[in-house]
Amino acid sequence: MTKANKTLLMLPGDGIGPEVMEEVRRVIAWLEKRRGVTFAVTEDLVGGAAIDRHGAPLADETMAKALEVDAVLLGAVGGPKWDNLDFARKPERGLLRLRKEMELYANLRPAICFAALADASTLKRELVEGLDIMIVRELTGGVYFGTPRGIETLPDGTRRGVNTQVYTTPEIRRVAAVAFELAAKRQGRVTSCEKANVMESGVLWREEVQKLHDERYKDIALSHMYADNCAMQLVRNPKQFDVIVTDNLFGDILSDEAAMLTGSLGMLPSASLGAVDASGRRRALYEPVHGSAPDIAGHNAANPIATILSFAMALRYSFDLEEEAQRIETAVKDVLAKGMRTADIMQKGAARVSTSVMGDSILLALDRLAA
Ligand code: IPM
Ligand code: MG
Repeated sequence: MTKANKTLLMLPGDGIGPEVMEEVRRVIAWLEKRRGVTFAVTEDLVGGAAIDRHGAPLADETMAKALEVDAVLLGAVGGPKWDNLDFARKPERGLLRLRKEMELYANLRPAICFAALADASTLKRELVEGLDIMIVRELTGGVYFGTPRGIETLPDGTRRGVNTQVYTTPEIRRVAAVAFELAAKRQGRVTSCEKANVMESGVLWREEVQKLHDERYKDIALSHMYADNCAMQLVRNPKQFDVIVTDNLFGDILSDEAAMLTGSLGMLPSASLGAVDASGRRRALYEPVHGSAPDIAGHNAANPIATILSFAMALRYSFDLEEEAQRIETAVKDVLAKGMRTADIMQKGAARVSTSVMGDSILLALDRLAA
């Protein structure tokens, strides 16, 4: 495979998506110029932008492209303009379709507290300083996709809403394996979360994770925790965790909570990974954890760091460019240490900068690191 074969599909989406994606484009241009790595980048629509053009949140051609490329980088989807559409046509469905059809079953959401931002957390500095948790959220199963689902009207005129929480052995094992593999490269600890005290699917989850551990990952320290307790422990003593593995719905909630601990939702990247295919390639989608922030869209005020760090994760997990990934992460830390802040992470005495000036600063830091 030649270097130019690194294919990347950019889906900027809605709200601040296009603005933050623009800063990634500049980082890519820097890598091409200064590091000689080249990417074949294509761009397309997702979410509300796709609804406006095609009448659907993800066109079939876009879906086909996403299945072809080495990695997809997504900005954000959604906004008030599309809030009243029915469920199946909402911008979010575009994202859910990508996750489902690309079979991106493992969602990696790091919650890292940057030293320069520890005071921005709602928790005390000593609780969050140095925090580095990896949440592995199951992403293609559970109550998000289980059937039966729907809203029905009963004979007496009242209504009934149904969703189904369902997991199978292979679905649990493949996501747990990702968590164990990650833990092996970190502190070697996995906490698996469910509600085995009230749900059969939780009992199965616990048993299957334990079984896989005993068969293949004995050297990892595995513990089980009820999801509600995990939510509590995350604010009580978050540094007790290394890797947390959990289902789709609990993962949605716990990852938002963990993100907030870091004091900087606008800083956090994520990766969604599928299975490794016969050619050794793993389907993958990268996106910031934050949303489309329609209130500040178009004002050059958004924080581009989460999207830039999502691209760094793509370098690490899809393009085998660990060194370049670390270079970008170091550049981000440098810029924060120098006191550069977008509005979302503004602190007393720091310099408030726009989206594009934050991008400029990161490029300058990259220049310094490469010098
Ligand atoms: C997330 C979001 C999505 C989810 C929404 C936008 C469908 O909250 O990625 O965490 O619930 O998975
Ligand atoms: Mg969420």
